[in-house]
Amino acid sequence: MLNLQAMGSGSLFGTPIMEYMWPDATELNPQLRDAILRHARHHAGTKLSNVGGWQSESGLLEFCGPAGERLIQHILEMAQAASDRLYKENGIPPEKLDWTLNAWANVNKRGHYNNVHTHPSATWSGVYYVDSGEARPTAANTSIHLTDPNPARNAIFFPNLPTGNFRFKPLPGLMILFPSYVPHVVPPHEGDRPRISIAFNLRKEPFP
Ligand SMILES: [Fe+2]
Repeated sequence: MLNLQAMGSGSLFGTPIMEYMWPDATELNPQLRDAILRHARHHAGTKLSNVGGWQSESGLLEFCGPAGERLIQHILEMAQAASDRLYKENGIPPEKLDWTLNAWANVNKRGHYNNVHTHPSATWSGVYYVDSGEARPTAANTSIHLTDPNPARNAIFFPNLPTGNFRFKPLPGLMILFPSYVPHVVPPHEGDRPRISIAFNLRKEPFP
């Protein structure tokens, strides 16, 4: 008699998502906030996926001084730790990786949002929250939404499986990291204060 309880099973093609709350955010964020708002007053900003809102030029947060340098170090530390974790989970020996890093600041006032997009030509992408811009940030309002990079999973497989749409509360000090191919969207900001974040791309060299 067949015993299908003995059937092997597993889950392939997972999507690694990393999050970390930086313990020095209370000290760091007021400095980043002041520097970003000062810079935004004197520079027109650029436009990519943002609809409304201000976005700085891409670089190493030079306009944020020592606080920017520290955040750049944090991004690199997290990228290395996240990659180490990923390698370890997949049985790959650890490796010190070289990164090309590009970061930029975002200031979104009420109603400003970001269309769905990915970040081609990068390995990891991520965001760090300087100020949620809300009295009580929740996962339901202005958080970033990461969506399943394989939409067929929900469209044609089992639509009643957990949906491929994950929301993060934009808590000050939170850094999240995800593969650059993960589509994401930021719905219109609903807070009274501007939401201030720092987004970044990390490209492993040589790429890919
Ligand atoms: Fe993005």
